[in-house]
Amino acid sequence: MNAPGPAFPATSPDQVFDWLDTEAAKRGEAGLTRRLHPRGPSSDELDLAGDDYLGLARDKRVAGAAAAAALRWGAGSTGSRLGTGSTEVHAELEHALARFCGVQSALVFSSGFTANLGAVTALSGAESAIVTDKYIHASLVEGCRLARADLAAVAHGDAAAITHALATRRKQRALVVTDSVFSVDGDLAPLDELSAACRSHGAALLVDDTHGFGVLGEGGRGAVHEAGLSGAPDVVTTITLATALGTQGGAVLGPRRVIKHLVDTARSFMFDAGLAPGSAAAALAALGVLREEPELPGKVLTAAQGLAAGLTAAGLRVSAPSSAVVSLPAPSAEAALTWAASCSEHGIRVGCFRPPSVPDGASRLRLTAHAALSESDVERAVKVIAEVAPRGARS
Ligand SMILES: Cc1ncc(COP(=O)(O)O)c(C=O)c1O
Repeated sequence: MNAPGPAFPATSPDQVFDWLDTEAAKRGEAGLTRRLHPRGPSSDELDLAGDDYLGLARDKRVAGAAAAAALRWGAGSTGSRLGTGSTEVHAELEHALARFCGVQSALVFSSGFTANLGAVTALSGAESAIVTDKYIHASLVEGCRLARADLAAVAHGDAAAITHALATRRKQRALVVTDSVFSVDGDLAPLDELSAACRSHGAALLVDDTHGFGVLGEGGRGAVHEAGLSGAPDVVTTITLATALGTQGGAVLGPRRVIKHLVDTARSFMFDAGLAPGSAAAALAALGVLREEPELPGKVLTAAQGLAAGLTAAGLRVSAPSSAVVSLPAPSAEAALTWAASCSEHGIRVGCFRPPSVPDGASRLRLTAHAALSESDVERAVKVIAEVAPRGARS
């Protein structure tokens, strides 16, 4: 028989959550308190914080498609995708995404987070090994935790470490999991090398192309397409519809049999209400815009390069601009917070990333470039960010 556990005295119901106040005080002391900043429908601030890279969230063709679909199909999907939550709009979007990216099949989820949870867990499990770059997005990390597989999270950007972990694994089935564009610094995964490592060791490759899709590759088809891997039988891609497509939702793209397996087994697909039809219709319209205006992704990269060049010339330490994301290390969490607030006071909204949103524990400003940024927007942003930069942000 088990020994009885320690006896805990009864407390009054209003003391049960006292530990939350203790935790909140600790976060406050470390400069890690979060606040919501609800925005109005329009703002004079220059937005360098949002992920609406192509400016499609407010595009009339996209927002109009959402409104029309909501009126036609309803505000919600009314059920799980396996019940009443799949509409013809979802099916059309899946076909369009698969065609655009050159994959056999696509499956739409209610978010990029649930797409990642579903893909990682359904394509691994207790009989598998998972090897990841340790800087992967939090949603992939949660998928790995839920998967119950043997897990090796190796040094960032280190294809040799991935290869070594694959070569020394104990389970035959294996999945390598990476972001294509790492979300905090915008740097790129070595997809060619990772794919080669997977192929020499019998593993599948799962790439989260959230920050590559709509920005990199031919006409914005993404980093996986650019690497020539999108139609490959051993590669699976996940994306969110909430960045370049300007709406909401996520998708998994890949071989037909992978998608079929997800429909039957991915719990974040099966037990989750389907994406709202308005969001699906908006994504479909946004994809149409991307096809009609293939020059949009190039404008994002030009703006990112302009920001990085200007900030570097102003003496700041800046990440290499390989995507829409440009980041600037700050000396501390408090310094990052003050820096972002000063930018906002001068009309520039920037992202402020602090633990646990940064994989290495170092706080940063995270800027996102947008297709509509003009040269004078870039100049103004550089001037403000540099002028209010804390000591310690300079190279
Ligand atoms: C790399 C990456 N993957 C997945 C997600 C989650 O996507 P969603 O916001 O659609 O849940 C994000 C969101 O920021 C992301 O940056």
